[in-house]
Amino acid sequence: MSSFSLSRRMTGVSESATLKLNALVQSMKASGEDVVNLSAGEPDFAVPDAAKAAVVKALQENRSKYTPVAGILELRKAIAHKTNLQHRELAAKNPWDPSQIVVANGGKQAIFQTLLAIVNPGDEVLIPSPFWLSYPEMVKLCEGSPIILTCPFDKGFKLTPEQLERAISDRTKVLILNSPSNPSGVTYTAAEFRALGDVLRKHPKGKDIVVISDEIYDRILFTGGDFVSFLSANPDLYQQTVTVNGLSKSAAMTGWRIGWTVAPKWVTDGILTIQGQSTSGINALAQYAALAGLQLPEDYFAQNNDRYLKRRDLALEVLARAPKLKVIRPEGAFYIFVGVDDFLHSGEDSAGFAERLLRDGKVALVPGTPFGAPTFLRMSFATDDESLRKGCERIVEYVGRT
Ligand SMILES: Cc1ncc(COP(=O)(O)O)c(C=O)c1O
Repeated sequence: MSSFSLSRRMTGVSESATLKLNALVQSMKASGEDVVNLSAGEPDFAVPDAAKAAVVKALQENRSKYTPVAGILELRKAIAHKTNLQHRELAAKNPWDPSQIVVANGGKQAIFQTLLAIVNPGDEVLIPSPFWLSYPEMVKLCEGSPIILTCPFDKGFKLTPEQLERAISDRTKVLILNSPSNPSGVTYTAAEFRALGDVLRKHPKGKDIVVISDEIYDRILFTGGDFVSFLSANPDLYQQTVTVNGLSKSAAMTGWRIGWTVAPKWVTDGILTIQGQSTSGINALAQYAALAGLQLPEDYFAQNNDRYLKRRDLALEVLARAPKLKVIRPEGAFYIFVGVDDFLHSGEDSAGFAERLLRDGKVALVPGTPFGAPTFLRMSFATDDESLRKGCERIVEYVGRT
């Protein structure tokens, strides 16, 4: 018998949950079936021309050697500037500077490195559900314990201060917040963030808890107001807050792998050591593209936002024809989280429903189970209007006949 084995830290870590569904979509398409795929987790818009041009220029000028581990200085300056605009009160006294920023291979690596830098085996990481599906798996890879705080549909999928207070234990190390949220599209108001911050301020363990605020969808927002970050609502908590962002969603640059952390020095030092000994500075050309992405005019973001908003409203209008579908109007990101409790067969969860919907209704949605919501499915509206309308009509038609 072989003695090969994976490390203990791999125990219970799931693979990507969408693989099986995607394989089915591909095989149905290959056999000529007309499937509407509303499972995408990325913008359908092209990469901005300015980013493409910046890469070509950097390549021609041979700016493609190793870069500093944290990223080129111009890019980190641009990120500091962007972050300071979002944290005006904090920035007035204590502005972020490039030394507090590490550019990583996407928001994903930025979050993972942060957890790796601060979580000890057995530490508890609080994750409000529904959550972005990688959070608990990353925590397990760091040998921490993901503690899922269920935020029900009728509470707007949001963490309440009481719930946070009850969940804090002697082993709590991190709280992960994500606004706007993938998968629910829910956003927190400044007052809601402040109320969560108050719990950390008052609780005897509160000052030892690091907040990872995942703000990757900050530029896709339908509230009509300015984006609200956790730290803009709680500027005094900057020594225990790590802000994560990137260009994957805002500038449609998913494949370029550009994300970053903005963090106090003590965390940044840890992240830098990890990145320095693992990936080093990210692809040099992607960094020049990122600089161009950060310098895009406000109009670029506003126009995209407008297109997403119209699509959201189109999808909501069609889905409303099936009133038994549970839907929360998303205030950001490009997903609608749809509850199908009334349509599940006995013993079935959303994965079973998603498979039926795909085979018989010819629409692909992502099951909510790996997002911590087993009776919901995630529908992406990052697709053209015609496919979106057709997909939503098929969903309505399918639930009408099941
Ligand atoms: C909530 C959330 N955080 C982080 C990420 C990671 O983004 P990136 O593609 O930049 O790694 C995603 C991507 O889907 C996401 O939805």
